[in-house]
Amino acid sequence: MSAIFQPGKIGTLEIKNRIVRSATYEGMATARGEMTQELLSMSEELARGEVGLIITGFSYVLASGRGAPYMTAIYNNEHVTGFQELAHRVHQAGGKICAQLAHSGRKTTPEIIGGETPMGPSPIPYTNSHTTPREMTKDDIREVVEAFGHAARRVREAGFDAVQLHCAHGYLLSAFISPHSNNRTDEYGGTVENRGRIVLEVYRAVRKMVGSKYPVLVKMNAEDLLEDGLTLEQSVRTARMLTVRGIDAIEISAGGAEGNTRSARTDINTPENEAYLLPYAREFKKHVGSVPLILVGGMRSPEVIEKVLEEGDAEFVSMSRPLIWEPHLIKRWKEGDRERAKCISCNQCYSEVSTGTTYCHVLNKEQE
Ligand SMILES: Cc1cc2nc3c(=O)[nH]c(=O)nc-3n(C[C@H](O)[C@H](O)[C@H](O)COP(=O)(O)O)c2cc1C
Repeated sequence: MSAIFQPGKIGTLEIKNRIVRSATYEGMATARGEMTQELLSMSEELARGEVGLIITGFSYVLASGRGAPYMTAIYNNEHVTGFQELAHRVHQAGGKICAQLAHSGRKTTPEIIGGETPMGPSPIPYTNSHTTPREMTKDDIREVVEAFGHAARRVREAGFDAVQLHCAHGYLLSAFISPHSNNRTDEYGGTVENRGRIVLEVYRAVRKMVGSKYPVLVKMNAEDLLEDGLTLEQSVRTARMLTVRGIDAIEISAGGAEGNTRSARTDINTPENEAYLLPYAREFKKHVGSVPLILVGGMRSPEVIEKVLEEGDAEFVSMSRPLIWEPHLIKRWKEGDRERAKCISCNQCYSEVSTGTTYCHVLNKEQE
């Protein structure tokens, strides 16, 4: 049997194969962040398409952490019902589901959060949107930490199988970890340990709410790819701080913090260009013991994915863009059509992140 279709485990969670849908902003919630039929159906299709574990697009844990107009909210107990329906639909279709929890921090804008100034570790301008965040107080930090804890509790109450902390791509927790956006002089800035302190506090708050057996995952940047950004050596040390405390899996990403260092790269047209973050996984592997790694970035052909899995560089691989075009891609491979994903990695789907529903523009043109 192909390594792709071997069952795998993340903590206590059994997953039928090694394919994870990496968190992908859907832009399908209502303007108030509530669940919609469109979002439910889309997620159900991924489960029908044999994706082993579906990670939802990032959901905001506090109103100040909203990062896009149709982003899903999980900051209030009223949001549990919609999440419950989502878990039910995915389970009915044979899938497993994990919620990605996020606070957008300095990457959001006043327009998206009701006119307020976005907050971040330090008042360092986010050049992509020309927004300068206000420096968070200790009370702000406490509020964020508690919000992540309560959001995780809601996710568990809704019947989800796992929760993932978004510590990548320059969003709030990632911004604390990175020296590029954090020049605090208190215990939340300076050393790697101090910059990672908020992440450990969030992790502790989440654990307290969901218990020791519930799968808690993290997505983090191996590097920001910025001159003054997070380095691989620093990110490995941050990951170690989580592994020794019981994190259940680490998804490895890179970039996306600022400038045009996108986590979703283009020109993935040969097998050599696929799995473009593989060297990071190899380095992480040396330091994280038996904690499963999920490798994202440019997985397009079954042969490349099998090699990653068979060589033990990661226990799972995750995919985003290919599943926007082909939600049934994994089923297609399972049924014997092993042609690479149709996705041409043009990133037109990305253009919707700030404005509306995520969809594949190429597929849409074909269908016109
Ligand atoms: C439209 C779109 C939305 C995304 N939304 C998220 C998100 O909500 N959270 C996240 O961690 N990454 C997000 N990403 C990044 C993907 O999860 C993934 O890391 C990246 O696209 C590389 O994987 P791929 O080559 O399989 O697309 C998004 C990517 C795209 C294209």
